Amino acid sequence: MKKTIAEHAARFSAAAGEYDDDQNSEEYEACAGLVVRRAAPNGTDTVLDLGTGTGAIALALAGDAERVVGRDVSDGMLERARGKAADADIENVEFGYGEFREPEYGGEAQVVTSNFALHHLADGEKREAIGTWAALDGGGTPGRSDSVGPRRIVLGDVMFFGEPDPEEPFYSPEVDDPATVGTLVDHFTDAGYAVTQVDRVHDQVGVITAERVVSGGRES
Ligand SMILES: C[S@@+](CC[C@H](N)C(=O)[O-])C[C@H]1O[C@@H](n2cnc3c(N)ncnc32)[C@H](O)[C@@H]1O
Repeated sequence: MKKTIAEHAARFSAAAGEYDDDQNSEEYEACAGLVVRRAAPNGTDTVLDLGTGTGAIALALAGDAERVVGRDVSDGMLERARGKAADADIENVEFGYGEFREPEYGGEAQVVTSNFALHHLADGEKREAIGTWAALDGGGTPGRSDSVGPRRIVLGDVMFFGEPDPEEPFYSPEVDDPATVGTLVDHFTDAGYAVTQVDRVHDQVGVITAERVVSGGRES
C-alpha cells in the first residue's frame, strides 16, 4: 500500500462531490459495465460490493439482486452512495464502512464485486483481501462445504496485461499499485476459485471473473 487507508479515505472523501462527473473514460465505463454483466446475480442473491465508492456497481446491481451491501473506507463516498440510493428510491442497498481485508460484514454474500479499487493495495495485501472474500459466508447449506465462500467474485480494476507503457499510465504511480493479471489469477486460484473469464478492456484495465470450486467441479 503506497498510502495508508486513512490517506486513501481522506483523498476520496475530498473528491467525492466530483467523483461521478470525472468517471467518463471509455475504459472506466466499459470496465464497470462488464463487472455488472459478469456479476449476474439472481433474485435471491446478496451482493457485497467492496471499494463501492459512490455506489456505481452496487446501485446498478440492486434491481437484479435481493440485497446489495456496499463497503468503503471513505465516509464522503459512502454519503454520496446513500444519497444516490435515496434519490433513486432503491431500498435494498446498504452502505457502510469496511476495508477490503476487514469488510465489517458478517452476513451471506453469494456474489462479491469490486471495481477500480483493489489496486490501492500492494500485491501481498491484495492476496490477503481475496483470501478474506473467499472465506465469507456464501450462504450454502450450513455444515456443508458449499456454505463457505461466495459463488462468484468479479474484480474489475487496473491490471497489467503486459508491460505498462510508462508514457501512458492508466493509474497514478504515486498512489496506486496495480498487479499483473497473472498475479491476480494466482491469488484467486490459491483462494480456491477457478478463473472462468478474463476480459481485457485496455492493456492496463481488465475484469476477472472467478467461480468457487466445489468438490466434484464448479458450482453451476
Ligand atoms: C476509484 S474508486 C472506485 C469506486 C467504485 N467502485 C466505482 O467503480 O466507481 C476507489 C474506491 O476504493 C476505496 N478504497 C480505497 N482503499 C480501500 C480499502 N483499503 N478498502 C476499501 N475501500 C477502499 C476508496 O475510498 C474509493 O471509494
